[in-house]
Amino acid sequence: YGTTGVNKQGHLEIGGVDSLELAKNFGTPLYVYDVSLIRERASGFKKAFAEQNVKAQVAYASKAFSTVAMVQLAEEEGLSLDVVSGGELYTALAAGFPAERIHFHGNNKSREELEMALDNQIGCIVIDNFYEIELLKTICLEKSAKVNVLLRVTPGIEAHTHDYILTGQEDSKFGFDLQNGQAEKALAAVMAFESFDVLGLHCHIGSQIFETTGFLLAARKIVEKLAEWKAKVAFEAKVLNLGGGFGIRYTKEDEPIPPSQYVSAIIKEVKLLIEQYSLEMPEIWIEPGRSLVGDAGMTLYKIGSSKDVPNVRKYLAVDGGMSDNIRPALYQAKYEAVLANKPLAQNTETVSIAGKCCESGDMLIWDLPLPRAEEDDILAVFCTGAYGYSMANNYNRIPRPAVVFVENGNATLVVKRETYEDLIKHDLPLK
Ligand code: LLP
Repeated sequence: YGTTGVNKQGHLEIGGVDSLELAKNFGTPLYVYDVSLIRERASGFKKAFAEQNVKAQVAYASKAFSTVAMVQLAEEEGLSLDVVSGGELYTALAAGFPAERIHFHGNNKSREELEMALDNQIGCIVIDNFYEIELLKTICLEKSAKVNVLLRVTPGIEAHTHDYILTGQEDSKFGFDLQNGQAEKALAAVMAFESFDVLGLHCHIGSQIFETTGFLLAARKIVEKLAEWKAKVAFEAKVLNLGGGFGIRYTKEDEPIPPSQYVSAIIKEVKLLIEQYSLEMPEIWIEPGRSLVGDAGMTLYKIGSSKDVPNVRKYLAVDGGMSDNIRPALYQAKYEAVLANKPLAQNTETVSIAGKCCESGDMLIWDLPLPRAEEDDILAVFCTGAYGYSMANNYNRIPRPAVVFVENGNATLVVKRETYEDLIKHDLPLK
């Protein structure tokens, strides 16, 4: 995984730093990010566009992992940024991210959130529904503001992934339906309002997708529509945003293609379609989240109690769980892990890794081959970089872990561990 390796002491190392040192210095549970791998992923995407000479924006979907340092890293790598809430927008602005490269998503943006976006003159708003068209129009009039918009459409594609993370199919809470006339109505409404610069269309068909087929189908449906709209209402898209969703390898069973290959396939298809329908080549935007940060992150836990259920299984409990990684409980997501102090040990037993939350479903990994673990051993769970910290919570009033960035042998704390005081910071006494 990334720049993980085994050092002279036989310990798992990441970004040139001993994982046991990280656990000792920063405590556990601990999210650790390999910064050079994030940089590599970012340049991989950008290179794929550059090679094919296509104007593009690669926007990091910050919902995957949003913190000030991460946003600054995205900035350093020349990425744009996709935010989906006032909180993510606030983080981006606080990090000093250039507002003109921020894209704002969401199916129920509030008046306050939209005002914040306009006041800060962000790059574009991805309009999701008719309610939002009206609300944004009102706010633009009040503020005499102009804004770039994209229309989010649902092309009616069912990507092969977990049901909860499907988003481009017809029966979805997101976007304007491309097939039933909704998108056309929305287009008429936004084109008629002069304070909107309608840049183009957006779609996002799902997440953790392993095939290019869905993206190509979505591109086809959209470009066909664009051809129709050019003839009917003289609309020409300057931007075609095909969302994120590129799958990554969590376990040996996953077989994703390299992220840049999704991009190459998409570009090839769009170019063909554009030529076929004699349209102007739009800028292609994408919004990867998971594929930029997923495999760059790992979580270090300390092993505590264990329980043998004779002839059934052995449970090993760690000092975190669904409070720092809810994905196994929510999506039956699978992970691989090693003991950080003996990552290469051969003689293993099969154990199941339990979290510490008061809930039977709080299991991180079922049936993991692991050398015999001792008290205080450190377990390293790989590929927790996306939707781990960002979906972390305080269930059971467990403080959220710290986050550390490692690169070239250096470790930098980028999010402090929550304290018990933090937990009751907003509580007020009864009297
Ligand atoms: N763009 C839009 C409009 C999205 O809705 C999403 C993800 C992305 C981009 C980034 O997708 P990615 O490249 O990360 O797959 N919590 C779930 C994933 C939810 C994804 C929601 N939307 C998980 O832990 O698997």
